[in-house]
Amino acid sequence: MAVKTAAERSFNFSAGPAAIPLPVLEQVQAELLSLPGCGASVMEISHRSSQFDAVMRDAEQRLRRLLAVPDHYRVLFLQGGSRLQFSMVPMNLLGGGGTADYLLTGAWGKNALSEATKAGETKIVWDGASTNYDRLPARDEVSLDPTAAYLHVTSNETIQGVQFQQDVDWGDVPVVSDMSSDFLSRPVDVSRYGLIYACAQKNAGLSGLTVVIIRDDLLERSQDQLPGYMNYRLHAQANSLWNTPPTFGIYLFGLVAKWLEEEIGGLAAMQTRNQRQAAQVYAAIDASGGFYEGHARPESRSQMNVTFRLPSDELQSRFLSEAAEHQLVALKGHRSVGGIRASIYNAMTDEGVDTLCRFMDDFRGRHAGR
Ligand SMILES: Cc1ncc(COP(=O)(O)O)c(C=O)c1O
Repeated sequence: MAVKTAAERSFNFSAGPAAIPLPVLEQVQAELLSLPGCGASVMEISHRSSQFDAVMRDAEQRLRRLLAVPDHYRVLFLQGGSRLQFSMVPMNLLGGGGTADYLLTGAWGKNALSEATKAGETKIVWDGASTNYDRLPARDEVSLDPTAAYLHVTSNETIQGVQFQQDVDWGDVPVVSDMSSDFLSRPVDVSRYGLIYACAQKNAGLSGLTVVIIRDDLLERSQDQLPGYMNYRLHAQANSLWNTPPTFGIYLFGLVAKWLEEEIGGLAAMQTRNQRQAAQVYAAIDASGGFYEGHARPESRSQMNVTFRLPSDELQSRFLSEAAEHQLVALKGHRSVGGIRASIYNAMTDEGVDTLCRFMDDFRGRHAGR
């Protein structure tokens, strides 16, 4: 069987599961048959073994260092993707009653709300539907309830490509943030949030692992009658070993965190690289004389998912097929927005972005005005 070498890998712009840093994949490859000193693959050992305990502790400690997670927050390694969090958040945090505020900035915020309404009382505090979610609201456009049980936001809307540029710090109500598609892409002030969740398959490794960071006092809201898996307090008490956790995903997450710490130099350095790469792609859009039309308004643009359209469906199809000839793959936009989506998560290399921007300029030169 022909094995692809690192040099044959495409420039992968997938929105998720997404590219994984090459040094991480190489370490996985080197350790696949036996985790150092273990005599077995990480997939073949008990989640309660001392070897796996070391893997999980290392992953958690690295995450705590990267995000400077305060001591009064717990880190949980769960399963079920971010969609399960759409249910777990309201089932736990509305345990004592009350209403939850939801800010709808795109498809994922809407999905989160639709699950929450099954679990309790919710209120929409802002909805960007009228402009097809191309922007984020200013603070004074949002009518928050100071007595709400929590405010749910989506820090980066993966489908529309809009992203909060700063931490959401809007009063005393605990903020719950779905950071699935910009987790670990930049520093975040964890102390401003009640709960942060993120599926791992964009910036942090493998689908099947969801990371939750929850402030201690919010664990008190979890009611005993919740189904066991749905109860944050049980997971916290069991140090994420209430049931068998996604062991390979946690191992991979630890390697990604190590790469971020030791090769990138932390989240501020990661953010600088992400900002530079995003600015380069947006510059190619803005310099195209309208040939490429960005979906998000400039002040709300995502550093992670760059969404844009071409003048016709025919040109869009041609763009995708010609891009593939340059090893630029997975650029098709989500069906609800159409057009192109370049997801430039942490693992995207400068070479990938350079190649994309060169291709965009060249393609426009050949097709604009014809
Ligand atoms: C912002 C956001 N939230 C939630 C999800 C759903 O995650 P999962 O498929 O892991 O449930 C996604 C997936 O793309 C996402 O981008």
